[in-house]
Amino acid sequence: DAYDTILVERKGRTALLTLNRPNALNALNALNLQVMNEVVAATEALDRDPDVGCIVLTGSAKAFAAGADIKEMRPQSYLDMYLSDWFTAWDRLGQLRTPTVAAVAGYALGGGCELAMLCDILLAADTAVFGQPEIKLGVIPGIGGSQRLTRAVGKAKAMELCLTGRTMDAAEAERAGLVSRVVPADELLGEALAVAETVAGMSLPVAMMAKEAVARAFETTLAEGVRFERRLFHAVFATADQKEGMSAFIDKRPPHFTHR
Ligand code: HXC
Repeated sequence: DAYDTILVERKGRTALLTLNRPNALNALNALNLQVMNEVVAATEALDRDPDVGCIVLTGSAKAFAAGADIKEMRPQSYLDMYLSDWFTAWDRLGQLRTPTVAAVAGYALGGGCELAMLCDILLAADTAVFGQPEIKLGVIPGIGGSQRLTRAVGKAKAMELCLTGRTMDAAEAERAGLVSRVVPADELLGEALAVAETVAGMSLPVAMMAKEAVARAFETTLAEGVRFERRLFHAVFATADQKEGMSAFIDKRPPHFTHR
């Protein structure tokens, strides 16, 4: 596919998308509109492909992404931002049905942190640095950071990070509940691909429903969320993969899911 700022590779049922801005900013992966449009187009194409069971998003060793492109944003006016609905397309990443994994090494700042938080599973290298330093530039988070960081780590830390621009290292991010696991930097990609392969080996419709159910916890009350889960739980009994998964367990063999 003809993308200039990302690399897309397929490994079995897993797709690996690497942020790869070609130029001086290469290693820092600043997120300009082209990156946004390419990431959204590529992931939506993968989302439509029934042979893709999980999407991994990663950056470079130095930076997952150092944030939105400050050089591109500086001259914009309010009306430029409003009329082009700047950054709203990123929301579509959070609406993918296929499970996604962010593999974060180095800087995940501003829009980079927000991009990682748009993914379902967040794995960090021990080199990872997270933060919402927008306030130091005279702006605030614009891709959901004030909301998703707060839901992930609570008010106290989210307020401190958003108001002071302080960053947190991987260990603090794990303690705070922002990342699911921290691994040594040289194992990050292998670990992320292994997690993705595990997810992609599950029944795709059932994995989609599991994702939908967890995501619902961020949108609704406990009672409505439990009701939503119960409806999906009943629905999975309409799949062949439920019969296969339970039969395989009883027969003491690995399941062979057909994603039906
Ligand atoms: C544009 C960037 C950039 C960015 C770095 N560069 N981050 N350009 N947008 N977000 C550029 C630098 O200007 C410099 O360009 C080159 O990349 C190398 O950066 P250095 O600072 O020299 O590298 P280093 O000393 O290693 O420091 C790395 C860094 C630092 C800690 C990541 O670059 C940094 O703090 N960057 C800004 C991080 C940030 O504020 N992110 C939030 C952006 S706002 P030259 O031309 O000198 O080589 C945001 C808003 C989200 O994300 C939505 C709301 C609208």
